[in-house]
Amino acid sequence: MERVRIIVVGAGVVGLSTAVCIAESIPHCSVTVLAEKCSPDTTSDVAAGMLHAPLFPDIPVDRQKRWFKNTFDHLLAISESSEAADAGVFLVFGWEIFREVPREKRPFWSQDVLGFRFMTDAELKKFPQHKFGHAFTTIKCECLTYLPWLEKRFRKAGGQIQLGRVTDFGQLCQGYDIIVNCSGLGSTALAGDRQLHPVRGQILKVYAPWLKHFIRDGDGLTYIYPGAKSVTLGGTRQAGDWRLMADGEERVEIFERCCRLEPSLQKSLQLGDAVGLRPGRRNLRLEREMYQFRNRQVPIVHNYGHGGGGISLSWGTALETLQLVQQCVSDRPLPSRL
Ligand SMILES: Cc1cc2nc3c(=O)[nH]c(=O)nc-3n(C[C@H](O)[C@H](O)[C@H](O)COP(=O)(O)OP(=O)(O)OC[C@H]3O[C@@H](n4cnc5c(N)ncnc54)[C@H](O)[C@@H]3O)c2cc1C
Ligand SMILES: *[C@@H]1O[C@H](CO)[C@@H](O)[C@H](O)[C@H]1NC(C)=O
Repeated sequence: MERVRIIVVGAGVVGLSTAVCIAESIPHCSVTVLAEKCSPDTTSDVAAGMLHAPLFPDIPVDRQKRWFKNTFDHLLAISESSEAADAGVFLVFGWEIFREVPREKRPFWSQDVLGFRFMTDAELKKFPQHKFGHAFTTIKCECLTYLPWLEKRFRKAGGQIQLGRVTDFGQLCQGYDIIVNCSGLGSTALAGDRQLHPVRGQILKVYAPWLKHFIRDGDGLTYIYPGAKSVTLGGTRQAGDWRLMADGEERVEIFERCCRLEPSLQKSLQLGDAVGLRPGRRNLRLEREMYQFRNRQVPIVHNYGHGGGGISLSWGTALETLQLVQQCVSDRPLPSRL
């Protein structure tokens, strides 16, 4: 039987999750990941990696809920296994606090995290500026550990990883039958999707091992996320800003905002900052397209534009991409026998 040659562009959390799903599920295929940058140099590596679903305005909520729930359940199973430490996936409890009671008191993902409830008055006392809050247990998936773990799993399933930059999709059509586009924000040089834009995020890592609870302001701008080795303090959300350098004034401002929510941080040790550019798009793009290459139609499956929720939606969108790739495989014309 002829092997179907599949290439996945991108080795962030979206590309690697998608590549693993394909390599482990589709028989008789070869899967190659091609990426300009791999862990620890992707945007995914900068993310705190908390599971919390964003809401895209024009995508049915059921579909978004499936993306989040499938990701949560997949990572929950890892957190409950002996692989948890090697994969960098674990549970965290904490609070999401609001200055005003939000219109939707119960977000669409409230059933998918563990033990969701409203905060008690006793819990809210710590935050005099805030009137309302959610308490729940979610997952922290640390990509600096998780991506190398996924890479290993991908190689075990027969996958290959190549470093390189795609400048022309036609060039890929020669060597591959199906192209999967998980290039995140893409490369600036590629004239591409005009809806896609950077949303810059700066964070500060501190050493504060006494902190065990996460605290997140309802606007998603200020957060304190305790991790395996450090606590991530955030953040910023600057649309259209391409600066990858950390800004000193922003660092001070982030630290002050977080100290207001958690005064014990005053005694923490600052370890360093990081900046990432989220792949911003009004709606995530997950669909199949046919690309005309010479006398041949080459299917491209797009899976990008995850904005501030790429880790939270990674496995769920990878599973849906897998379904589209499976369709492409079964729709393929029978190989001509020359
Ligand atoms: C400060 C910050 C905090 C965040 N916190 C969270 C969080 O707590 N939870 C959460 O869910 N999300 C969070 N995010 C968002 C998350 O980081 C992104 O949604 C996610 O990383 C997107 O993953 P990706 O794989 O699509 O993109 P990336 O990780 O950017 O990977 C893109 C890949 O494509 C490759 N590529 C691009 N163009 C080309 C090309 N032309 N040729 C070859 N390769 C190419 C790149 O080299 C890279 O390998 C955060 C983001 C930031 C910046
Ligand atoms: C692949 O995705 C990028 C976004 O990362 C987009 O700009 C580009 O147009 C896509 N490529 C094709 C051939 O559609």
